Amino acid sequence: MGKADEEFARPATPPDTTSLKVTREAARKCTACHLYKHATQTVFGEGPKTAAMMLVGEQPGDYEDVAGKPFVGPAGKIMDRALEEAGIDRKEVYVTNAVKHFKWEPRGKRRIHKKPNAREIAACRPWLEAELRLVRPKLVVAMGATAAQTIFGPSFRVTKERGKVLSSKLAARVVATVHPSSLLRQPDEESREREYKNFVADLRVAAKAAEKA
Ligand code: URA
Repeated sequence: MGKADEEFARPATPPDTTSLKVTREAARKCTACHLYKHATQTVFGEGPKTAAMMLVGEQPGDYEDVAGKPFVGPAGKIMDRALEEAGIDRKEVYVTNAVKHFKWEPRGKRRIHKKPNAREIAACRPWLEAELRLVRPKLVVAMGATAAQTIFGPSFRVTKERGKVLSSKLAARVVATVHPSSLLRQPDEESREREYKNFVADLRVAAKAAEKA
């Protein structure tokens, strides 16, 4: 198989339906880019169709790829704790990712997360658009640069714009924040604690804005 085939990508084509279930089923068979070839399964979003808030991450990790559910690994655990602290019930929010297949490279026996590129993100974007169209959340939380740039464009900077209620073509109200996995990568306890508190503060802004909307 040549490199061109390996990196094949075209926009996904979600079905024309009002059913989230039908859309999720269709996404299971997505071959719009090459990532499906090495992932266990599509990890579609999860949560009630009536959710007022949608959280968007980057892509499923190792745990999510195996479980078929978003944010169930270490990043999900810290996200769950922060959500609770911000007064947000995870069962009531819709959680998804910008890219729905796990992109990885082998390192020994481990599968190491590899950042999705612009073509893979663009290929997957119609699925996120479909989720937004069907769930119609009052507020979207974009966690990390991949999610935020998918929503706002490539020049968006999370460090500059985090914690504000913004508007984009994809969603009327969006709060951008860091990705929860960045909290796990902090070099020491003090910065981990500080970044965690900032993350919770951004989620509180989101919770308030979702109530108002
Ligand atoms: N990181 C993400 O961006 N999404 C997940 O579902 C898990 C880890």
